[in-house]
Amino acid sequence: MNLPGYPVFRRTVLELTGIDLDLYKGTQLERRLQALLRRVGVPDLVRYSRMLREESRRVQEFRDFLTINVTEFFRNPDKFRELKESILPDLLARSPRVRIWSAGCSTGAEPYSVAIILDELGAASRAEILATDIDERALAQARLGVYSEREMKEVDPERRRRYFVPTGDGWQVIPAIRRRVRFWAMNLLADPFPEGCDLILCRNVVIYFSEEAKDQLYRRFRAALKPGGVLFVGGTESLLRARELGFAPIAPFFYRAIPGEPAGAGVGAGSTKGR
Ligand SMILES: C[S@@+](CC[C@H](N)C(=O)[O-])C[C@H]1O[C@@H](n2cnc3c(N)ncnc32)[C@H](O)[C@@H]1O
Repeated sequence: MNLPGYPVFRRTVLELTGIDLDLYKGTQLERRLQALLRRVGVPDLVRYSRMLREESRRVQEFRDFLTINVTEFFRNPDKFRELKESILPDLLARSPRVRIWSAGCSTGAEPYSVAIILDELGAASRAEILATDIDERALAQARLGVYSEREMKEVDPERRRRYFVPTGDGWQVIPAIRRRVRFWAMNLLADPFPEGCDLILCRNVVIYFSEEAKDQLYRRFRAALKPGGVLFVGGTESLLRARELGFAPIAPFFYRAIPGEPAGAGVGAGSTKGR
C-alpha cells in the first residue's frame, strides 16, 4: 500500500471499527481508497482519518464502502439444487442434527434459502442455522426478512406461495422460516468462530481479502467444520491449495473437510450466542 498516510489511517480504522486493512488486497484497496477520497472531497488519508474521528456518521459510511451487500435467494441456482439433492441429504444421513453457518450472510437471502431447502427436505427441525456478517445494518434487514423483486428473481411461484408473504414494497419471509435462522455480528478476520459445523457457506465474501487472509480464513473454517463437513464457496471462487488447507474438492464450489488433525490455527472459544 503506497498511499501517503496509510499507517495512520490503518491504525484509525482498526481502532474505530476493529477492521485490519492489512488483511485486504493492497492494490485493489488502494484504488478504491483513492476513489473514496475523491468522493468525500479530502486530499489524503491523514485528513480522512481526522474526518472519521470527528464525524461518527463517516465511520458507517466507511463500513458501507468496505462491505458490498449484494445478495439474492438461491444465488447460482444449479449449485443450490446440488446442495438440496446431494450435499444436504448426505450430511443429514451422517448426523441426526446438522449445524449450518452462513458466514458473510449480508441481508439474509442465503441462510433463508438454506432454511427453505431444509423445510422442503422435511429436515427443518434437525438443523441449526447460524448466520453472521460484519455489517450490523445488513443484519437488521436480515432479521426483518423483506426482499425486493431483484433479490427474489430465482424464487419460483411455488416457493413464493409457501415461504413468503407479499408486502407493500416486496416479499417477507414467513415467520416459520425466519425463526430457523439466528443472526449475529462477526468479523471473519478477527472474531472467534462457531465449532462443530456440518456445512459452512462463505460465498462472495473473500473477494477483497489478501491471499494470506483467505488462507487463514479457510484454515479456520476447516477447524470449525466436523470431519466430513462441507464448505460451499461462491460461483467465482476456488481453494487453490485445497489439500494443503485440509479440504478435498467434492464438486465445483464444494469442499469436504478431510478427517484428521484440524489444519486450522487460532480458532477462538467459539461463542455461538445468538442476538
Ligand atoms: C456480497 S455479500 C455476499 C452475501 C452472500 N454470501 C451471497 O453470496 O449472496 C458480502 C458480505 O460479506 C460481508 N463481509 C465483508 N467482509 C467481512 C468480514 N471481514 N467479516 C464478516 N463479513 C464480512 C459484507 O458485509 C457483505 O454483507
